[in-house]
Amino acid sequence: MSPDGVEARRDDDFTEPGPIAKLLLAAFAWLDERYRIRNYADSIQHFYHQLNFELPRTHTEKYNLRVIWYWYPLYALGSIVFLAFIFATISGILLTFYYIPSTSSVMMEGVGEATQAWQSVALIMTEMPLGFMIRAVHFWSAMVMVSAVVLHMARVYFTQAYKKPRELNWLLGVVLFLLTLGLGYTGYILPWSQLSFWAGRIGLEMSLSTPILGKWLAGLLFGGVELGQETVTRMYVLHVILLPLLTFGASIAHVAIVWWQGIAEPH
Ligand code: HEM
Repeated sequence: MSPDGVEARRDDDFTEPGPIAKLLLAAFAWLDERYRIRNYADSIQHFYHQLNFELPRTHTEKYNLRVIWYWYPLYALGSIVFLAFIFATISGILLTFYYIPSTSSVMMEGVGEATQAWQSVALIMTEMPLGFMIRAVHFWSAMVMVSAVVLHMARVYFTQAYKKPRELNWLLGVVLFLLTLGLGYTGYILPWSQLSFWAGRIGLEMSLSTPILGKWLAGLLFGGVELGQETVTRMYVLHVILLPLLTFGASIAHVAIVWWQGIAEPH
């Protein structure tokens, strides 16, 4: 024992790494020799410390208060939105294994002529293992997402959390709100049922009535001035690729900003 009470490190303190640790070290050394990953790991660590990340503290923690503000549960709404989005994404991926985005005609027993899209949704409900449940999870997580995003927006508004320095995160929130509505609308069109068709019609007419850009907008969103196969293809691409990726990326940026700035204190 040294005078300051710290035991000196001796050579026989060294413990042999286990087989898994050895394997990981060997893999790390192999990669480091080729890609210098230690340098990148060091820069990431340096960047991390420069940013001085810390978890946002609540009003109560910051000021050591004993009061629990009664609206604190409402601070969970943003996370509920994100959780609903994750549920919708997982169930949506499962649905894409069976859904067919096609308006081609098929003959269905007991129904007559139908489109392939509509038939594939009917098969999800009747033939796909647990298909009805996966579709229900997809539907209800979408409902929860839209409701929670509206409530989250109201919470932010009524606690005045949109004020300086959070103006840009509010604007990013508006983008997220529009993306959420976009996901809901494009998903509604996909079964190509009567409801889908007429909702598509409303969207198409609205696009067409936009001054100057009307035709261009209808072409961009609905694939032309008439509803058809192009409409379903476009809605499908928007619903399963473009909007989910944008929503995911924007949500990560949104939450990262909350992390940086901390949660707004109730006024
Ligand atoms: C996909 C949609 C969204 C997700 C996943 C999301 C997620 C979150 C999360 C997890 C928080 C942390 C605090 C809390 O939950 O209340 C938050 C805060 C915030 N959100 Fe959202 N949000 C979304 C949409 C929106 C919308 C539509 C708005 C407003 C237009 C908005 C504006 C804000 C603002 C200003 C804050 C900071 C509030 C504070 O510091 O108290 N967000 N968001």
